[in-house]
Amino acid sequence: MTGVSLMPDAAHPLGSLSAVESQGLPIEGMHKFLPLNTMPSPTLRTESKPAALTPAAVVSMMNQTVPKTAKLTIGDLQIDLPMLIGTENEIAIDIRQLRAKTGAITYDPGLGNTGACSSKITFLDGEQGTLRYAGYSIEEIAQKSNFVEVMWLLLHQRLPLAAELAQFSHDITYHTMLHENLKQLFSSLPKSGHPMAVCAASVGALSTFYQDSSSGSDEHNWISAIRLLAKMPTIAAYSYKHSIGQPFMYPRNDLSYAANILYMLFGTPCEKYEPNPVMVRALDLLLILHADHEQNCSTSTVRTVGSSGANLFASVSAGISALWGPLHGGANQDVIEMLLSIREGKRTAKEFMELAKKKDSGMRLVGFGHRVYKNYDPRAQILKKACYEVLDQLGRKDSLLDIAIELEQIALNDSYFVERKLYPNVDFYSGIIYKALGIPVEMFTVFFAIGRMPGWVSQWLECRKDPETRITRPRQMYTGATVRSYTSVEKR
Ligand SMILES: CC(C)(COP(=O)(O)OP(=O)(O)OC[C@H]1O[C@@H](n2cnc3c(N)ncnc32)[C@H](O)[C@@H]1OP(=O)(O)O)[C@@H](O)C(=O)NCCC(=O)NCCS
Repeated sequence: MTGVSLMPDAAHPLGSLSAVESQGLPIEGMHKFLPLNTMPSPTLRTESKPAALTPAAVVSMMNQTVPKTAKLTIGDLQIDLPMLIGTENEIAIDIRQLRAKTGAITYDPGLGNTGACSSKITFLDGEQGTLRYAGYSIEEIAQKSNFVEVMWLLLHQRLPLAAELAQFSHDITYHTMLHENLKQLFSSLPKSGHPMAVCAASVGALSTFYQDSSSGSDEHNWISAIRLLAKMPTIAAYSYKHSIGQPFMYPRNDLSYAANILYMLFGTPCEKYEPNPVMVRALDLLLILHADHEQNCSTSTVRTVGSSGANLFASVSAGISALWGPLHGGANQDVIEMLLSIREGKRTAKEFMELAKKKDSGMRLVGFGHRVYKNYDPRAQILKKACYEVLDQLGRKDSLLDIAIELEQIALNDSYFVERKLYPNVDFYSGIIYKALGIPVEMFTVFFAIGRMPGWVSQWLECRKDPETRITRPRQMYTGATVRSYTSVEKR
């Protein structure tokens, strides 16, 4: 097995983290996972497992009847660590006893190798480009379901019965209005402020109106969940209306979830506004595709804040702030701005691509690359096709789509992108549809937030109910000064 160096350039006092080997010892703490010996023979995909643990090794482990542990050698010390396996054959080494037994911690900036929780909500195989909500493929869900049903699916990890769906749909329709005093919060913020900041502030402020959200009871947590899912579109629309100085439109209970968003965004008290069904379906699709993506930056933020016992509104407000960043949800705004700059002739697509490859240019091909996907993001596949369909159905053309296709073609044939496995992600094509719907560019990430809301809420609820949840509190490698004496200011 491959050795893993803990510190690249200095010998660690405890030696090197040398080996992860299977060994037939009992597994502790396995109640949430299937023990290796009870797993059915897996259908393994050759590309899907990291090289250090080959498919052959996994098959061999799965076929043996005795549960396995990983053996870790640090200098003269050897310990056994339980190995866990998820329902999709993902393998984890349970290191919860590592520091207690060895004094060592793991070092994993960005947490790319760290499973911080177990979850039944979403499965993602980045090597294969697979995404499933509670077992249902994103392709099938996108084609056959709708956003309200997807919310329920994520919250409960099963499809609803007709009566359950009707009740849920009723609940999130009848909690859409905002407290009148909350409107004053919008009015007190600068019109030019980014709507993501306005949304984060407003969602955080909900806990001042609904103080039962801090009780921590399951009942109040559920009521908070309904309130948040119902009110987020209203908050989002108000953040836009405030920015353009138009009156806030009260939600309409006779409209579907997506239609009501368009109505509150584009309607005015002066004229009748009936949402276009093509636009409603396109928006519903976008929301479905954004609904959850397991432990991404904003979701893990929501879980982290929730792990301290903070209420749902406070936790999700932090998630909205995390989503705003250009490396995360903020990329959808940046993609359109990049495409517009190419169309305006500031740079050709080829020139842009050359800059994106140069580290010192400070530029990246936004909408490309992903921490987990090392294959085409399945959501981008669906959205690319939807771009053509939506533009066609609305009778529009958009040269930005041609530029996006050109960029993608260059990237897919360029060794820089091929070697690094950089493919379009969800943000690459979504903006072209948002634009076709008339949604202003600075609202793109807000729409991502509306879509991600059921994911955040479901993950927060799951985290709160999980008996293994502990307050999130990572360790660090301290590299600062060692102990020294204080010198008074006049003697420095
Ligand atoms: C999403 C993202 C933050 C993932 O980051 P990550 O997992 O930490 O990956 P890294 O930043 O380590 O990238 C790995 C390599 O690919 C390069 N790379 C990654 N994304 C790139 C991009 N969009 N354009 C150009 N190069 C890119 C990195 O420079 C790095 O190259 P190196 O190995 O020569 O140093 C990153 O791909 C990115 O910045 N993409 C653009 C922003 C975006 O679209 N975000 C939305 C994600 S849904």
